[in-house]
Amino acid sequence: MLRDRVVGRTEELAALAELWAEARAGHGHLVLLGGEAGIGKTTLVRAFTEGLSDATVVTGQCLMFGSEAMPYAAVSQVLRGLVAVHGADRVIEWAGGGRDALAGLVPSLGLGGAGAVDAMQQFEAVATVLERAAAATPLVVVIEDLHWADPSTASLLQFLATTLADSPAILMLATYRSDELTGRHPLRATLAELQRRPGVRRIPLGVLDSGAAAELVTGVARDATPAMVARIVERSEGVPYFAEEMARVAGRHGKLPNTLREALLVRVHGLTEATQRLLRVAAVAGVRFDEDLLAEVLGEPDSLSTRLREALDAGVLVSDEDGYAFRHALLCEVLTEELLPGEAGRWHGRYADVIGPTRGVSRATICPGTCSPPVASMKHSGPAWSAPTHSVRRIWTDWDCWRPHSSCGIG
Ligand SMILES: Nc1ncnc2c1ncn2[C@@H]1O[C@H](COP(=O)(O)OP(=O)(O)O)[C@@H](O)[C@H]1O
Ligand SMILES: [Mg+2]
Repeated sequence: MLRDRVVGRTEELAALAELWAEARAGHGHLVLLGGEAGIGKTTLVRAFTEGLSDATVVTGQCLMFGSEAMPYAAVSQVLRGLVAVHGADRVIEWAGGGRDALAGLVPSLGLGGAGAVDAMQQFEAVATVLERAAAATPLVVVIEDLHWADPSTASLLQFLATTLADSPAILMLATYRSDELTGRHPLRATLAELQRRPGVRRIPLGVLDSGAAAELVTGVARDATPAMVARIVERSEGVPYFAEEMARVAGRHGKLPNTLREALLVRVHGLTEATQRLLRVAAVAGVRFDEDLLAEVLGEPDSLSTRLREALDAGVLVSDEDGYAFRHALLCEVLTEELLPGEAGRWHGRYADVIGPTRGVSRATICPGTCSPPVASMKHSGPAWSAPTHSVRRIWTDWDCWRPHSSCGIG
């Protein structure tokens, strides 16, 4: 759903307006809009295209069914969009000698069987139709979710990036989830190749700044107190989807909405059970965690790197020179909530057993009586939780100041 008001994104909208002006002046562009799921790619594209008064805007969505990318799904949709605006007769006329090639891409044109058509004929037919459509009215072509594109669509885009660069009045906008492009995702090579072409521009979409995120939250939760708004902004880490989902339930209860929990967990649930377990145990330590410590806590160091690699490839974890971190603090929060109460206590005890002796802290000091588990207490009480740059070792350093009973009851 597009919200009434788009917050922030002034620079990106200005960049798009400039590229559109260039396209209209004779230099078509392909713009690659990358960002993680929920960051606002679709919203930005819609905000931009809704502000255009004299353009034809056609959108195609790349689609996956199971693990199969639908061949030419987005391209067919774009062509059908042109048929809806200009009528089938005109689109067929624009295709000229590429009529048969078009028949295979848009069966609803009713042109009958396409006979033998090779990919290059199809590419040329699409380019010709787009060029002629742009000559009729300035044209914006949106291809959504390129990370799901089939190989033919990716090749077609490369072809169009070259052929349309000097076509007046065409702007192509392609969105993709940057966090999907891990491991050997085929789009990585396509993007690298595309970026070398002269008419191709990249606009990476990052998180909203805190002012824009607060504006988004107050737009959804009009009665939220300043403290509630600040808390949601902090927990959302500037990701509009997270902020919006939390704002919807602001003030009702402290829990995350199920839609958000499920969105966060969807990738985790696609991993092997062993990796899911590793993530739950790592989450006990906090947003950032230490591989050596985790290996000791789990007691299975051999398979650890394979599992960490699986989680990195799925975009659940990120890594840097300091070690590993959950992509989002909220995911870490949701994972710890997935632990059974007894299980959570056992893992806290295990961390205490491993860390306590090395830091000269006894288990009794770490887990005094019935007090809430120490690592979780630190996460919710101190700077270690709100600042994801802290490592688990730092959590425990901070925690040295902790004294029995002083951190009880923090939630
Ligand atoms: N700049 C923004 N202003 C207001 N709401 C936004 C903004 N960006 C995203 N949203 C909201 O966040 C949610 C996710 O945005 P969406 O554009 O669908 O993300 P993406 O396409 O990157 O997955 C949407 O419900 C949208 O309304
Ligand atoms: Mg989208």
